[in-house]
Amino acid sequence: MAKFYQLKIREVKKEIEDAVSIAFDVSDDLLDTFNYKPGQYLTLKFKINNEEVRRSYSLCSSPILNEPLRIGVKRVIKGLVSNHINDNLKEGDLVEVMPPDGRFFADIKKENYKTYYLFSAGSGITPILSILKTILPTEERSYVHMIYGNRSQDSIMFNDELEELKEQYKDRFILVKTLSRPKSNWSDLWKTSKEQPFRKGRVDTEAVEWFINEHPPYAQNAEYYICGPGTMIKNTKKALKNIDVPNNRIFIESFGGGDSKDTTEAYGNAKLTAILDGETIQTTIPKGKTILRTLIDAGKEPPYSCEGGVCSTCICKLKTGKVHMKTNLALSEKEVDQGYILSCQSIPLSETIEIEYKK
Ligand SMILES: Cc1cc2nc3c(=O)[nH]c(=O)nc-3n(C[C@H](O)[C@H](O)[C@H](O)COP(=O)(O)OP(=O)(O)OC[C@H]3O[C@@H](n4cnc5c(N)ncnc54)[C@H](O)[C@@H]3O)c2cc1C
Ligand code: FES
Repeated sequence: MAKFYQLKIREVKKEIEDAVSIAFDVSDDLLDTFNYKPGQYLTLKFKINNEEVRRSYSLCSSPILNEPLRIGVKRVIKGLVSNHINDNLKEGDLVEVMPPDGRFFADIKKENYKTYYLFSAGSGITPILSILKTILPTEERSYVHMIYGNRSQDSIMFNDELEELKEQYKDRFILVKTLSRPKSNWSDLWKTSKEQPFRKGRVDTEAVEWFINEHPPYAQNAEYYICGPGTMIKNTKKALKNIDVPNNRIFIESFGGGDSKDTTEAYGNAKLTAILDGETIQTTIPKGKTILRTLIDAGKEPPYSCEGGVCSTCICKLKTGKVHMKTNLALSEKEVDQGYILSCQSIPLSETIEIEYKK
């Protein structure tokens, strides 16, 4: 069963106009439970307007540095939780937090000799920053080439920290910032593109191809980490495919947010058998409900976090029957072939469905 712990907020820091970072205190007895790999996320639970809501936020701190667990949260227009966090949370508040999870992380080891390409845009910087801050001090022979897209100079999260890292590791860390709507002074008009501290535009296919050409890998062993909005992920992947980067070198984290246009019809009132924490649950899936929501409405506590097909916390194995996943941004083709499904996205396509959550 997904367990939450109360963590106390140590600091709320305004990072940019529309984003804060939140640092948590973790008591000694929970240090092991909240151990994490750079790139992983926390799930936070709140009660807002009498309804329980959960959201995932990637850690932007590094597990190897002497710093508290920290997340960075950017407002989403009309977003329930991101605005609640930005408007209401303060030092000393207790927040319900699930231990770190997620499959987007780098295997960082002292002996590695790699070139890491890090692609991020907007709030997608959070897991990328954690990975970056862990690689640079740990892997003394590795290089990091990073491109980071934002709207303007004022919307760059963690800019000072990135500039400090650039200065400290100037031989091994290349950082290119792109701005889609840069604010400029008259004097900027006369600067050549080499003199500008940023590149104009988005992190798109052309920018990624240019970036890799301009900054080729030093070590043959190159890995590519991507986190940002859906179109940025799609375009970056396309550019990497164009230069034949194999899939197993590409690691992606999506924060979700796209509206699903899926109109697949579910099988009405399918019979569900679910094995959860050793208990066998039998119920009916009302039309329009996912397997996860059916179980929650039945008073059960299946694991879940984003409820958007992104994080994979709700993964389970389909043992009998057929389902349709409305969105799947988390499972690989291989996992789907092996019968794994995201219960938060699955609606039944057959009369009987049997699933099992891992213990
Ligand atoms: C693994 C993971 C890690 C994440 N890490 C971070 C992080 O480090 N920092 C961070 O700020 N967010 C992060 N997110 C996104 C976060 O979990 C929430 O989805 C986001 O804060 C919006 O929640 P909300 O309640 O404010 O919006 P909601 O009330 O859920 O949604 C309101 C509207 O905004 C749209 N929307 C929802 N999410 C997004 C989004 N991410 N981008 C654009 N539009 C969206 C919805 O489609 C809807 O139309 C992460 C998500 C996942 C799955
Ligand atoms: S809860 Fe995140 S993918 Fe289902």
